[in-house]
Amino acid sequence: KNHLEIENSRLTIGGVDTSNLVNEYGSPIYVTNEQRIRDNFRRYKKAFPDADLFYAAKANGNLTILKILAEEGAGADVFSDGELYTALLAGIPRDKILFNGNSKSDRELLMAVQTGVRVSVDSFDELNTLSSIAKNEGKVVDIAFRVNPDVSPKTHPKISTGLKTSKFGIPHDEVVSAYKQALDKPGVNPVGIHCHIGSQILEVEPFVETVNKMMDLVEQISRLGVEFEFVDIGSGLGIPYEKNIEVPTPNDLADSIVPIFNERCKAEGINPKLVLEPGRYLVGDSAILLTSVNTMKNAAKKFVGIDAGFNTMIRPVMYDAYHHAVVANKADKNAEDTYTIVGPICETGDIMATDRELPEIEKGDVIAFLDVGGYGFSMSSQYNGRPRCAELLVNKGDVDIIRKAETYADLLANQEVPPRFL
Ligand code: LLP
Repeated sequence: KNHLEIENSRLTIGGVDTSNLVNEYGSPIYVTNEQRIRDNFRRYKKAFPDADLFYAAKANGNLTILKILAEEGAGADVFSDGELYTALLAGIPRDKILFNGNSKSDRELLMAVQTGVRVSVDSFDELNTLSSIAKNEGKVVDIAFRVNPDVSPKTHPKISTGLKTSKFGIPHDEVVSAYKQALDKPGVNPVGIHCHIGSQILEVEPFVETVNKMMDLVEQISRLGVEFEFVDIGSGLGIPYEKNIEVPTPNDLADSIVPIFNERCKAEGINPKLVLEPGRYLVGDSAILLTSVNTMKNAAKKFVGIDAGFNTMIRPVMYDAYHHAVVANKADKNAEDTYTIVGPICETGDIMATDRELPEIEKGDVIAFLDVGGYGFSMSSQYNGRPRCAELLVNKGDVDIIRKAETYADLLANQEVPPRFL
């Protein structure tokens, strides 16, 4: 982990001592290294110099993080009105924003039409709705259809999206007829095609299968008269949460799909842009979560009670995900015992890490969870009456707050007490 280092026994990120961060800014706290995001983006872009990279804002929707990626030249995959709002505020160009979603509200479709971004249409029904909304507004919206390519990558079932039975996209064999309908409708202009097969995929074969299936469709649909400006194959490239595994890199992915894409475009005499929508790869390893040890318990296991549970980071509980844990203030000490690290939430399942070999842990120690930049803060909640924590950005020794911690007042902020209770 080259942006994480150990100095005087302490874990540092972006040149900043993590234990000091907890003393100064509180705990738990997410800490993101700006340079790491930039490096990840540049590595991905270098592998795909001719493609557009639309950052999947759901991975981490913090405005400053979107601004960093906008500066690097990213577009955005947005999946809600709120993500669209943030992406626009971050300065992402409108023609590089694709509004995705399997169940967009009419209000969201109207927002897409009014802001002039592109829409990935997920069903025939949505096509009709979008067409009439755009027509009413006197606008024409550029669209793609989200294809369900029926590809099944090996990943956690909750994050596999391209199976035939998945809720996303238009069945592969109905896609041509979707484009035929779009060509005949006012207000919609088909310029792209889109799919996404899943997330945290650690092999390239499913992507090869996907590109081939998508290009089969592109060929057929081009012959209907659709001029493809882009072919968006979504994302899903995984990262090595477990440190001893080999994972494909963006280069490996590019080597396996770009030649196929280029060849098939050439054969067809078309020149669409390849679009990818990386989320996790760009931000995943850029952040750590710092938590403090509240209490120790020797029972059936050695339990370490920390101040972050699945309200702060849900991945271990929701996907049985592994996140490497480091005792940040004893980062160079040898493992001495086996610990199970648990959160403060009133649920048996609130376990952040099971049976980890770590140096001796005491109350007051700081435990850092690595690789929490993707789907970490963005999936956090106020469950159990816990305000969401703060987010920091570090860069070459500097520290900025990019989200303040919530307060008790935030827990009550939108609640109303009917007069008869006053
Ligand atoms: N594009 C679309 C249409 C997506 O649905 C997603 C992720 C992405 C791009 C980005 O995929 P990535 O590059 O991050 O693999 N919460 C889960 C992951 C859910 C992914 C949802 N869609 C987790 O924590 O593992």
